[in-house]
Amino acid sequence: MEVRELVKRYRKARADAVDRLSFAVAEGEIFGLLGPNGAGKSTTVGVLTTRVRPTGGRALVAGVDVVAAPRTVRGLLGVVPQRNNLDRSLSVRQNLLFHAAYHGVPPRVRRPRAEALLEQFALTDRADDKPDLFSGGQNQRMMIARALMHDPRVLFLDEPTTGLDPAARLFVWDRVRELRAAGVTIVLTTHDMDEAATLADRVGIVDAGRLLALDTPAALTRRLTTGAAVGEASLEDVFLHLTGTALR
Ligand SMILES: Nc1ncnc2c1ncn2[C@@H]1O[C@H](COP(=O)(O)OP(=O)(O)O)[C@@H](O)[C@H]1O
Ligand SMILES: [Mg+2]
Repeated sequence: MEVRELVKRYRKARADAVDRLSFAVAEGEIFGLLGPNGAGKSTTVGVLTTRVRPTGGRALVAGVDVVAAPRTVRGLLGVVPQRNNLDRSLSVRQNLLFHAAYHGVPPRVRRPRAEALLEQFALTDRADDKPDLFSGGQNQRMMIARALMHDPRVLFLDEPTTGLDPAARLFVWDRVRELRAAGVTIVLTTHDMDEAATLADRVGIVDAGRLLALDTPAALTRRLTTGAAVGEASLEDVFLHLTGTALR
């Protein structure tokens, strides 16, 4: 996956939401985009997942240009958006099966796959319920399971644990590591230092649409004068160190 000099300016906005962003993600890697609210993380994910039209630059997923071949790209990737977009009129199982049908997964494949994912995401006993009264953690597990129904090579997780309690968060982390072990390439966004440091193989730190630093958590830690590990230092510390200015 690659982003080259990517620019996004929303209509009537006074500044670029994404400002000449460049980075590449290796196959099988967990890549973390770390930054405060408004940094441009969701916009970047939006472009890579064909939901947001870039103003400039290029974005490739599995080598395929997202603007030139959006349908191909959508077949290659799974996406878990920041906001819940589950169908509340459908049961958990139906949400999974409809998603697979939409992506052209044959019934013989999608039924057993749904059962396996319900099991993996600890949703089997809720499979016939509608997501109306679900907790944040259950919703998130369901959205990840649904995103995996067409067996994507690349998975985008936009703030997958924001608002979750510690146990739900650890559950998501374990599943994300499991997916990497299965060969899925993962891009996740977060504003949580600890999450980026513990989960990601490499972390890109973004602010105001720009990339401030990109490295392994260990290498980013070595750059911090405090000597604290990235997960231990606050986002404020890291920004102060990288930019010489406090976080807005
Ligand atoms: N649909 C939109 N229309 C106009 N401005 C937007 C839209 N979505 C995001 N923005 C703006 O673009 C900037 C980046 O937002 P976003 O990508 O959501 O950042 P993050 O996900 O890092 O919080 C912010 O200033 C935000 O207000
Ligand atoms: Mg966001």
